[in-house]
Amino acid sequence: MKTALITGGAARIGAQIAKTLHDNNFKIIIHCNHSKEKAQHLCESLNSIRQDSAEVISGDLNHIQSISSIVKSIDSLDLLVNNASVFYPKSVENSDIGDWDDVINVNLRAPFFLSKGLSKKLSRNDGSIINIIDIHADRPLKNHAVYNISKAGLKMMTQTLAKELAPSIRVNGVSPGSILWPEASAEISDSEKKLMLERIALNRQGSPQDIADTVLFLAKSDYITGQIINIDGGRTLNQ
Ligand SMILES: NC(=O)c1ccc[n+]([C@@H]2O[C@H](COP(=O)([O-])OP(=O)(O)OC[C@H]3O[C@@H](n4cnc5c(N)ncnc54)[C@H](OP(=O)(O)O)[C@@H]3O)[C@@H](O)[C@H]2O)c1
Repeated sequence: MKTALITGGAARIGAQIAKTLHDNNFKIIIHCNHSKEKAQHLCESLNSIRQDSAEVISGDLNHIQSISSIVKSIDSLDLLVNNASVFYPKSVENSDIGDWDDVINVNLRAPFFLSKGLSKKLSRNDGSIINIIDIHADRPLKNHAVYNISKAGLKMMTQTLAKELAPSIRVNGVSPGSILWPEASAEISDSEKKLMLERIALNRQGSPQDIADTVLFLAKSDYITGQIINIDGGRTLNQ
């Protein structure tokens, strides 16, 4: 059985990726930070389908020590999905060093050092890395300065690692458009939602399953590396 680590895998898109890979016979390591209960619940439900097929690890990806602990705790790995992310609105003017550190550390530094730290284990298994990016890696989302920068960096990181870690590790990316509305501090109004939907060629949001299906496709595609697939319902046609 192949093993996949999904960062931020307890809820929303990450949880759907975990369930889909599990349905396709992967053993799942669900990484979480705050969502420990949700992670445990998902883990139990996966283990009830197949014994010893899921486990939970936790750690704040803002801290480099957590990344080292995660790396040390994993014996063997076939697939790393860098999904965890920080997203909240901040204009350039209002962004401070705390915002920079928080967003860059989680969205960019953590995927880099997880990939680097786990590369020997991945390479022993001809493994792969899939980074969950964002269509706004190419064209900026207003009022999300540091987020845009982090995702543009993650896109370049995908291509850089694909080149440097070949031929033993494939590295690809999935760039979602609008899939799930943001929660808490990033929440947006109904009128903003309407405007966003009007700009999508297919006139609707995608689903977490659309992202999970693409992750599965890339995980299984032995001759694809260095590619980033937009899953955006045609949103980029109207950018
Ligand atoms: N939702 C969309 O429509 C959309 C659009 C474009 C791109 N994306 C990308 O798709 C991916 C998944 O999106 P999503 O909306 O499901 O993500 P999300 O709910 O905003 O975040 C996913 C997870 O990231 C984890 N995380 C945040 N800060 C962390 C930290 N300091 N340490 C460890 N984990 C941390 C959280 O885990 P805990 O809950 O355990 O703390 C959270 O559950 C992200 O990379 C996102 O940028 C999503």
